[in-house]
Amino acid sequence: MKKRVGIEALAVAVPRRYVDIEDLARARGVDPAKFTAGLGAKEMAVNDPGEDSVSLAATAAARLIQQQGVDTSKLGMLVVGTETGVDHSKPIASHVHGLLKLPRGMRTFDSQHACYGGTAGLMAAVEWIASGAAAGRSALVVCTDIARYGLKTAGEPTQGGGAVALLVSETPDLLAVDVGLNGVSTADVYDFWRPVGRREALVDGHYSITCYLDAMAGAYRGWRERAMEQGLVRWDSKLPSEQLSRILYHVPFCKMARKAHAQVRLCDLEDSGSGPATPEARDEAAKSQASYDAQVAKSLGLNARVGNVYTASLYLALAGQLHAEGAALAGQRIGLLSYGSGSCAEFYSGVVGEKAAERMARADLDTVLAKRERVSIEEYERLMNLPYDAPEAIAPEPGTFRLAEIHEFRRKYAGA
Ligand code: CAA
Repeated sequence: MKKRVGIEALAVAVPRRYVDIEDLARARGVDPAKFTAGLGAKEMAVNDPGEDSVSLAATAAARLIQQQGVDTSKLGMLVVGTETGVDHSKPIASHVHGLLKLPRGMRTFDSQHACYGGTAGLMAAVEWIASGAAAGRSALVVCTDIARYGLKTAGEPTQGGGAVALLVSETPDLLAVDVGLNGVSTADVYDFWRPVGRREALVDGHYSITCYLDAMAGAYRGWRERAMEQGLVRWDSKLPSEQLSRILYHVPFCKMARKAHAQVRLCDLEDSGSGPATPEARDEAAKSQASYDAQVAKSLGLNARVGNVYTASLYLALAGQLHAEGAALAGQRIGLLSYGSGSCAEFYSGVVGEKAAERMARADLDTVLAKRERVSIEEYERLMNLPYDAPEAIAPEPGTFRLAEIHEFRRKYAGA
């Protein structure tokens, strides 16, 4: 029998402060409805220099181990997906490995391809276990990022930050991945990038949306072809994409998930041979509100309150989806779409585990978000203007890590 492999449990870490997105709109002289209805945002996480991508990754991983009682002696791989690394050479994975005092006999590395790096890392872990090379060991995959475009830029309301840690094993209580059914699509484009030495990302915003939709169409069609060969979906009265219980997307801002879902449906409507006859009618059917409400809307609860988390965005949507409906989805197949600018998209699927609700209850996401503090726009701007290498002396909350100082180019962390 084929091995069941996938995500056993997850944990989330977010910065301790956030702004209300309507406060930001008012401060910028923008109609708040543009950020709420237009982009789908409610709140936006704000980090300070002590909450860098290392400390968020280590906090999420430590939380996962503690909440789920992970036996660290059974771990054989630690992959960190990130596009906001802190060193050209030393990976975040080695910091996390040291801070958590993990076993020496582990493969550790970072995985980078914009927001796709986390999914690339997850697939490396899944396929390592599925191949048998893991010999019964599990993997930790941590997606961590700070999304930063700068004050008063078009990208400003789509910033955020945080980390999601995933335990990957042969006991996929959250999601058993359909190994080998992945559809991928790559293109060499300049839609979003961050040249070495820059703190803020550069982005061609509207073009980046086009690139995302173009790449995801290729990835979805690739997945659909393989899923049809395996008899998991078919041309029927229901579109193939409607045969998935839910579809989770990379969420740079919540409205993007709505656009992505319409694109997936458009792929089906264009290829079915029996859908609406005109492009206008197909566009209309693709934008179905009922389909969006049934298959996508409930995954966005956390993303709307945290903002963009780059590599972790899709996994924050998975956390939000299983937090909202873990019990109801047990045994059902869902689709997941990852997109990284530059670009690479990957569509894959998996079956939600019977113990998803129980595992998610241990992740205690309501408390993780409730502990945050709402700050004013003045305080947000002050934090944004702090130098990245001089963290404020704040004692870490119990169970979390903070960057304490950078001395002679070596980073020192405190906490947990
Ligand atoms: N009331 C309601 N809605 C309003 C409104 C109002 N008063 N004013 C505007 N809107 C709507 C607009 O109609 C638009 O909706 P549609 O896209 O559905 O038409 C939406 O609000 C946004 O308006 P604009 O397009 O005018 O906004 P903008 O030009 O200021 O910038 C953005 C939007 C391009 C997303 C910008 O925030 C940005 O560059 N963000 C960063 C890039 C990004 O997130 N790209 C996503 C794809 S790339 C990727 O996914 C990788 C990654 O993580 C970065």
